[in-house]
Amino acid sequence: MKQRNKIYNSFFYAINSKPNKKEVLSSLNLTNQGKNMNAHNKAEKFWDRMANYFDREERKNEPTNIKIIEKTRNRLKTSDIVLDYGCGTGTAAIEIASCVKEVKGIDISSKMIEAAKRKTVVHKVKNIDFAQTTIFDEKLKKGSFDVIFSFHLLHLVEDTPKVMQRINELLKPSGLFISATPCKGESFVQRIFYFLFGKIIRIPYLKFFKIQELKSLMTDGNFEIVETECLHQIGQQYFIVAKKI
Ligand SMILES: C[S@@+](CC[C@H](N)C(=O)[O-])C[C@H]1O[C@@H](n2cnc3c(N)ncnc32)[C@H](O)[C@@H]1O
Repeated sequence: MKQRNKIYNSFFYAINSKPNKKEVLSSLNLTNQGKNMNAHNKAEKFWDRMANYFDREERKNEPTNIKIIEKTRNRLKTSDIVLDYGCGTGTAAIEIASCVKEVKGIDISSKMIEAAKRKTVVHKVKNIDFAQTTIFDEKLKKGSFDVIFSFHLLHLVEDTPKVMQRINELLKPSGLFISATPCKGESFVQRIFYFLFGKIIRIPYLKFFKIQELKSLMTDGNFEIVETECLHQIGQQYFIVAKKI
């Protein structure tokens, strides 16, 4: 009898209470997931729009990009399996492919990946695989990469500590994470300029790192910093090689 009353009470409560949409989603643990999906879709659309202009943009920065590739090549071995996280149109991945065993390039934007795949055919590079996905894709196996690199990306992603944790888990023991990241937080003028620029072109997310903040992100994420260099004084392009501890 007691049990039957309990069921009636629960049923009565269920049909009379009107949980709002947020409560329903949160009970299903979907609120954050929904927010993340929204941010993900916005970023994907934005970078799809940028894909057509991207190679031209890259050429403008050529001296810095050349330095990034040179410095990265110095760290690579012919036996390495490498991940280019946020590969864009695949320029860096294609440039280093001849120095390593295998390269995987991933990017959130399908248009960037299409352009990267086209370039692979043009340059006749066989050891590259490009895929539209995120760093959290379960198909990427833990401990499977010798080197992960990421150029001009960390200032564009949210929740960088979680991203660093994932990068750490994808690397083999003592694997390297090589990055080049604009640190616009170092200069008040640059910060304002890029904030306005970001608003005008509607970049979905932009972080203004200070150099120390970027370094702490690595060390807090269980990396030891083994090399740093500011590659472009005005742009504050900060190059870091960090080793998985
Ligand atoms: C400024 S571009 C840099 C591209 C390339 N790394 C380079 O240096 O030429 C940033 C790239 O990161 C990609 N991206 C942005 N957010 C991402 C995310 N959460 N996961 C993977 N790729 C992302 C964009 O689609 C874009 O191709």
